[in-house]
Amino acid sequence: MSHDKTRVCPVERSGSLDNRIRRWLQNPQKILGPYIMEGMEVLEIGCGPGFFTMDMGRMVRKSGRVVAVDLQEGMLQKVKEKIRLSGEELNIELHKCESDRIGVSGEFDFVFLFYVVHELPDQESFFRELSSLLKNDGRILIVEPPMHVSKQAFNEMLEIAGKAGFVVVDRPKMFPNKVVLLGKN
Ligand SMILES: C[S@@+](CC[C@H](N)C(=O)[O-])C[C@H]1O[C@@H](n2cnc3c(N)ncnc32)[C@H](O)[C@@H]1O
Repeated sequence: MSHDKTRVCPVERSGSLDNRIRRWLQNPQKILGPYIMEGMEVLEIGCGPGFFTMDMGRMVRKSGRVVAVDLQEGMLQKVKEKIRLSGEELNIELHKCESDRIGVSGEFDFVFLFYVVHELPDQESFFRELSSLLKNDGRILIVEPPMHVSKQAFNEMLEIAGKAGFVVVDRPKMFPNKVVLLGKN
């Protein structure tokens, strides 16, 4: 499937996704703390430069695993460099996906999608594929930005997810973003 590249956040803008001000506004430990425990299998799609990835790696510890996926090799290289510079032994696997296929295997406890769903070219096939990757009691946390994504677009996305077998479990608050926690039907 063709992909409208204008929708995808370019690697050159990754600095705006990974800085101290963002860490203060969107603290990864606070956002992810309620969902990620030691030993979990976590899938992060659209990891970008890895703003959340390192914290997830620390939270699952060595007994768990984080698979961080992105469409752009340049983003994955930034995460790789961050892991290297940290000197920490984190169980993080990096995977370059296709725009219309995630292409990983496994069964995950938690899937994290931060500011990415609106960039996907085909949400229907995406959620169908995700359904085979989530454990029956697994959870998906979706956070979408306030400006790029209208209330209508967000609700349409929920309908598409519903058709793939997902139900709304919670609506966590993260002003001004649009947020939902999904589980399997
Ligand atoms: C706005 S950035 C957000 C990055 C990260 N989640 C964060 O919050 O810092 C969106 C990311 O999604 C990635 N992306 C876009 N389309 C994708 C697709 N079809 N599959 C996987 N990743 C994709 C982009 O390459 C980019 O790194």
